Amino acid sequence: MSINQLVYISQAVRKMSLEDLNAIQRVAKANNEPIDVTGSLFYNGGWFLQVLEGPAATLDQLYRKIEGDPRHKNSRVLYNEPAAFRTFGRWSMNMTNLDNRQADKYDQLVEVIDAARTNRKVGAATPAVALLRLFNS
Ligand SMILES: Cc1cc2nc3c(=O)[nH]c(=O)nc-3n(C[C@H](O)[C@H](O)[C@H](O)COP(=O)(O)O)c2cc1C
Repeated sequence: MSINQLVYISQAVRKMSLEDLNAIQRVAKANNEPIDVTGSLFYNGGWFLQVLEGPAATLDQLYRKIEGDPRHKNSRVLYNEPAAFRTFGRWSMNMTNLDNRQADKYDQLVEVIDAARTNRKVGAATPAVALLRLFNS
């Protein structure tokens, strides 16, 4: 089945604790699995960046629900395009907390979120494309 990848950025309304992030991930995993959605959520201490992968109509519906979540605001879709394959096919929702420096690819991810936030590119690529490339190799 053909799939899309949707990437958005949003602003957390408050500082998210580890428990807050775990709660989001728990619900996301439980909901995404049965509707064939995979993806990854990044949090940098102030902003969320999320990749959602799945059937286009499913993503549009899911995004509308997520967008209305009171835990974030100013959500903006950066990318919503058909994809030949899933980048995060192994995860119904992966979570990367960049609020601690432990994360793999920390520096690149911080740069991607910063570029997305301020409407800059990452080299020649848009932030969403740069993000997907980081995990496609
Ligand atoms: C940053 C962020 C990312 C989220 N990602 C997902 C997601 O991938 N899938 C999902 O079902 N809910 C996600 N949620 C939660 C939804 O906004 C909503 O609370 C949840 O889907 C409601 O689940 P329910 O319909 O089972 O009550 C996310 C929330 C936030 C704040």
